[in-house]
Amino acid sequence: MSAEETRSKTAEAGANNPVRSMTYLEFGLLVLTVASTLFYVTLQSIVLVYRYLYPIFILTMLKFIWGEYTSELRGGTRTCPNSVSMKGKTVVLTGGTTGTGRASAIEMASRGARIIMGCRNLKRAGEVVEMVKRRSCNNDIVIHYLDLSSFKSVREFADKIRKEENGIDVLINNASVSDFESHDTHRIPHTTVDGLTHSFQVNYWSHFLLSNLLLTLLVKRPSSRIVNVTARLHTKPTNLNFTAGNGKLRYPRLTGYPLGKLGNVLFTKELALRLDGSGVKVYAVDPGLTFWRGRKFTDWKAKMLLPLLWLIMSSEDAAAQTIVYCATEKRLKNGEVYFDCRPSKYVSHLVDDDVIREKLWDVSLEVTQLNHRKNGKTITS
Ligand SMILES: NC(=O)c1ccc[n+]([C@@H]2O[C@H](COP(=O)([O-])OP(=O)(O)OC[C@H]3O[C@@H](n4cnc5c(N)ncnc54)[C@H](OP(=O)(O)O)[C@@H]3O)[C@@H](O)[C@H]2O)c1
Repeated sequence: MSAEETRSKTAEAGANNPVRSMTYLEFGLLVLTVASTLFYVTLQSIVLVYRYLYPIFILTMLKFIWGEYTSELRGGTRTCPNSVSMKGKTVVLTGGTTGTGRASAIEMASRGARIIMGCRNLKRAGEVVEMVKRRSCNNDIVIHYLDLSSFKSVREFADKIRKEENGIDVLINNASVSDFESHDTHRIPHTTVDGLTHSFQVNYWSHFLLSNLLLTLLVKRPSSRIVNVTARLHTKPTNLNFTAGNGKLRYPRLTGYPLGKLGNVLFTKELALRLDGSGVKVYAVDPGLTFWRGRKFTDWKAKMLLPLLWLIMSSEDAAAQTIVYCATEKRLKNGEVYFDCRPSKYVSHLVDDDVIREKLWDVSLEVTQLNHRKNGKTITS
């Protein structure tokens, strides 16, 4: 066979050989098989993971939705946006032994403030002070006895501070009692030594008195402020009933937690107006629903609510953020209520009622026996 014949036979064989076109097809099929296998395996893994882990996905989703839904109630979703130092500042705080008050004390002490805590339980307060010192690395924490259910005790506390301090930068009126602690099982209010309803005296009258007694120290410091801690429940009452009582109990209708908290908000606005130009600003804080370890509920109804409350409550550290914000921030609106480090949308309409605010002011002066100049801005003890 000639060389020419051999070449042409080889060319013929090459033309009929299907190997090249089969390789393309096989390659295509291979890619398709690998891709679909990968797709299938991924899908199966997702299905498998989902099958066993779906409760976690659902819970995460629910937590997110629930969190968004309840954030308007519990607050604490924002951290105080400033990191203003409080070195050289003196803070007076009521109710620092537990919850939000204790968390606020730790935060402000960490920023360098001198903290003076007014507490009725000195044993518990001593332990808390050690804890605040440890956690804030600040030893400038002082406790003085204060029982807000007695005006005598409030006056003694204020006297002590006026003797020992030459100025106050922040007064935080935080302590409170709930209705469970201040009423008996038939919802009859406990009466204080001053002949007033227990909750209204602790939550409102005593803070009114304390704020006025410490004003002389507050005006001595630049950009000093009073922060009154209120609650969303203050929007519940539609009025304040100033009917005087007969017998031992004065103003028996001024009772219950929501009314006391309304008192705080009305007082905030009224005091802000009266102190206009003095340099002292007044704010109210709604810390939102807060839960902390160690909270004790004795009432069975409260105990039953506990699991539900736990779901919608924020931590004490989170709740303290708005208090610290109002104690430190420069650009705030005097007389306003703050919630979650911004102005609250939930404020009682009664706050704009001049008549009710002034009436409460006058009754408060009478009840706490403060001397005052009717038309003036100065109040003295
Ligand atoms: N927790 C919430 O969900 C919530 C919601 C809205 C608003 N707030 C407001 O936030 C503030 C702090 O609340 P919290 O839940 O942290 O309060 P809390 O744990 O019940 O603490 C109340 C504090 O007030 C003190 N106190 C009670 N009666 C007193 C008296 N007669 N004299 C002196 N101190 C007294 C307590 O001292 P002892 O250690 O001696 O009992 C305690 O330190 C309160 O004003 C409250 O109304 C709370």
